[in-house]
Amino acid sequence: MRRFYDGRAVVLAPMEDVTDAVFRVLTRTVGADVCVTEFVNVEGLLRGCRNAKRKIRLEASDTPTAIQIYGADPERLAEAAELAAEASPAFIDVNCGCWVPKIAGRGAGAGWLREPEAMVAMAKMVVDRAGGSVPVTVKTRIGLGPESHMPIVDLARRLEDVGVEALTIHCRTAKQGHSGGADWSWAQKARAVVSMPVIVNGDVRSAEDAERAIRETGCEGVMVGRRAIEHPWIFREARAKLAGEIVAAPTPGERLSLCREHLLANVAERGEKHGVQVTRRHLAGYLRGLVGASALRQRLLTMPELEGCLAMLDQALPEARYVDAFDGFGVRAPTESDCRSAA
Ligand SMILES: Cc1cc2nc3c(=O)[nH]c(=O)nc-3n(C[C@H](O)[C@H](O)[C@H](O)COP(=O)(O)O)c2cc1C
Repeated sequence: MRRFYDGRAVVLAPMEDVTDAVFRVLTRTVGADVCVTEFVNVEGLLRGCRNAKRKIRLEASDTPTAIQIYGADPERLAEAAELAAEASPAFIDVNCGCWVPKIAGRGAGAGWLREPEAMVAMAKMVVDRAGGSVPVTVKTRIGLGPESHMPIVDLARRLEDVGVEALTIHCRTAKQGHSGGADWSWAQKARAVVSMPVIVNGDVRSAEDAERAIRETGCEGVMVGRRAIEHPWIFREARAKLAGEIVAAPTPGERLSLCREHLLANVAERGEKHGVQVTRRHLAGYLRGLVGASALRQRLLTMPELEGCLAMLDQALPEARYVDAFDGFGVRAPTESDCRSAA
């Protein structure tokens, strides 16, 4: 595991409907060190359901990628982990952090935090069954809530004792969902009591955040979720920052060309209608800071055909530039020479 998590790893978070093969390939081109699939329901996987099979399919070039599974039954999790291991993921991650009521309420995801004892026993079962062929990791939250009772430090120790090889901590309680600030100090406390790699997650929105999260917690890596949807360049920016290098924001040309690549790849994977549709959620972020971004985005949002979208992007390219006040979102805006070298 230390191969991937070396104190500077910048990891793409598992995100349902986002971190599919197309998005993983794109984020890797802009610096993601490790990617995690969308979570996979173990019952669907064991039944051979099409969506679960799609989620665990990993191309040879899609590496290192971990497969994340979720479920409420330890036996079924262990069985599914063994099956998922056949896809040769970098590791199998068990989701113990999903707060969504229909999942946590049924004992899966963050539901495991109701009974830390049971979570550890489940993790042991998964490790015993699949750990021989692939490392097993856990992603969880600091606790269910309230903040007065936080099992994460003790849990980290006990998960390591049963053979879990790395732990990702989303530094919010399950009750918080995605709101309120993430408290990275819990990752630091957990990191202090184990020797397995710990990955800090929650509110890493810039290269500065990534550097600060690692410096403050001593963790082996940071995991980035929502910010990557709108700004996948965060991976290379964070890596540069962690290496002590100067970080430049993407050039206007890179922004337009990522829109192009993402559209093409999604259409190739899903067909024109669906491919164009699912790319739309990324466009506001990809175009941010450019002169005329909002008008271009509006036009793209109403264009159902790939050719039409590509024509709009091509037309925008020669004049593409940042608005004067753009601050690069925590990284310096690119200079003329950055733009020339990326052209
Ligand atoms: C759209 C979306 C889908 C998510 N799906 C998953 C998932 O499948 N598995 C998981 O462990 N976490 C999932 N999460 C949580 C993220 O992995 C991450 O822990 C959370 O967003 C906090 O990180 P961030 O502040 O960088 O976004 C999801 C989050 C979002 C926004």
